[in-house]
Amino acid sequence: MLSRWRQVKEGGGQVALISGEPGIGKSRLVLALRERIQGESKALLSYACSPHHANSALFPFVTQLERAAGFAPDDAPEARLDKLESLFQEPAACPDNAVALFADLLGIHIGSRHALAAMSPLQKKGLLFSAFLAQLEGLAVRGPVLVVLEDEPAGARAGPVSGRAGDR
Ligand SMILES: Nc1ncnc2c1ncn2[C@@H]1O[C@H](COP(=O)(O)OP(=O)(O)O)[C@@H](O)[C@H]1O
Ligand SMILES: [Mg+2]
Repeated sequence: MLSRWRQVKEGGGQVALISGEPGIGKSRLVLALRERIQGESKALLSYACSPHHANSALFPFVTQLERAAGFAPDDAPEARLDKLESLFQEPAACPDNAVALFADLLGIHIGSRHALAAMSPLQKKGLLFSAFLAQLEGLAVRGPVLVVLEDEPAGARAGPVSGRAGDR
């Protein structure tokens, strides 16, 4: 894993799959990796699937976004929108409607600040994946990025992102 990480730091995208029985220490291994490389990356993203949200393919993205934006339980919708906007001011390569799409995903009422064109759920999902990848790209131009997708089988429909993200 560390030699893969070295290759990532040299600019070569890597995808590593760790699979095995529950309890053999996969999460622990990833935690150890995170601790070892902490000072070497400003972007350690973690997407964890949950058996309780198996019907919600984007659940890991929702929780990662909420964590990254720093939402507090009692934030008003405007405060959440502010936090979401500041999250996306940093990485430059971000589609115009990303904030509106992410706000919609997070269930934040966007009101008149961002218009989201009417579209089918499938179109929305396609645009969301593109926005996530653009966000990732924005981070990747600034330095090495570690993305952890945990327990992916429970949310296998989010799978196409991991393959496309590896190319970034
Ligand atoms: N190398 C290790 N040394 C000590 N305890 C470990 C080690 N690897 C895993 N464990 C412990 O075993 C349990 C299961 O590990 P975990 O990483 O959650 O497994 P998995 O993600 O494969 O289901 C956890 O309580 C973890 O702390
Ligand atoms: Mg685990």
